Amino acid sequence: MALILGIETSCDETSAAVVADGWDVRSNVVRSQVDLHARYGGVVPEIAARAHIECIEPVVSEALRAADVEFADLSAIAIADGPGLVGSLLIGMTAAKTISLVHGLPLVPVDHIEAHATSAALGSADAPWPAIALVVSGGHTSLYAVRGFLEIELLGQTFDDAAGEAFDKVAALLELGFPGGPAVDRLAREGNPQAIDFPRTWINEPHDNFSFSGLKTAVLYRAFGTGNKYRTAPLDERTRADIAASFQAACVDTLVAKTVRAATERGVSTVVVGGGVAANAGLRAGLTEACEARGLALHLTPMKYCTDNAAMIAGLGYHRWRAGQVAALDAEPRSGLRRPARPKKGRQA
Ligand code: KG4
Ligand code: ZN
Repeated sequence: MALILGIETSCDETSAAVVADGWDVRSNVVRSQVDLHARYGGVVPEIAARAHIECIEPVVSEALRAADVEFADLSAIAIADGPGLVGSLLIGMTAAKTISLVHGLPLVPVDHIEAHATSAALGSADAPWPAIALVVSGGHTSLYAVRGFLEIELLGQTFDDAAGEAFDKVAALLELGFPGGPAVDRLAREGNPQAIDFPRTWINEPHDNFSFSGLKTAVLYRAFGTGNKYRTAPLDERTRADIAASFQAACVDTLVAKTVRAATERGVSTVVVGGGVAANAGLRAGLTEACEARGLALHLTPMKYCTDNAAMIAGLGYHRWRAGQVAALDAEPRSGLRRPARPKKGRQA
């Protein structure tokens, strides 16, 4: 049995976890900073980095205590090295390097989004691969072909806003607060999803990339008007609910269609979904219905592992460590996303 300590600080959650053999979660401590950022309507990088400095040591200690282990019991330390906010990543990486040096533990870098893509495997010794993985959160919207823990192929991703980012921005337009996803989800239940025909960008295009900025702009124009027809009076309740429901329907239709297409076209019979937006009731219902209709098995990651957490870092880190994928102490954070080539019209090679 091998115990891995995972550390995650890529955005605004400070998290540490102890996971045995890549799936058995012994502890998963998550300290959210949402209250610190709410008044600004989004994550402020400097505030996030400072809060990580304050939290990282107590969070790691708590994760070890909750799992009833000591540093000497660990086999390796897994660290999310990107993508994310560089100041936030630096805090987690510095802590992980220090622990690695002091306790003689191998340092295992783990890609944050690949960890989301494999998070559905946590909690069970039977991994669901091969599968198509949809990662849909505030910072990422990506499709992966996961053939195994060490064979994760990025198929496509968003070229502008992530789906969760679009939810948050629409929530801001409708004055629903931050983070807005859950509020839009709630308001959408009271509206008509067919009231407004919002764009479903690239829904029928034969590639695996997404774009949500056009949808967001369409909502802006619908809510406030354009040019000299700018609206200043507040929207009535019915219109707000219809905008929320129609926006969510456009977003969900696109995510579901592209995910199901990615699986059926490649002859893959399992779909897994992770990331904060996987909590969305419309998305869960849409994916469940579409996967049932196509005979696809659907694994929705449990909510506690959907939002940012270190258990998913330790889980994937175990497999990387076993494959000898360790880093030197001068490893640096990778803040940016690796983007595939922009899709051309027609079929991708
Ligand atoms: O995975 P996560 O905690 O952090 C990132 O890695 O980004 O995802 C947070 C995102 C936010 O944009 C939040 O608004 C969205 O997930 N979210 C939702 C719901 N719950 C959280 N979006 C739509 N419906 C929800 N129920
Ligand atoms: Zn994330």
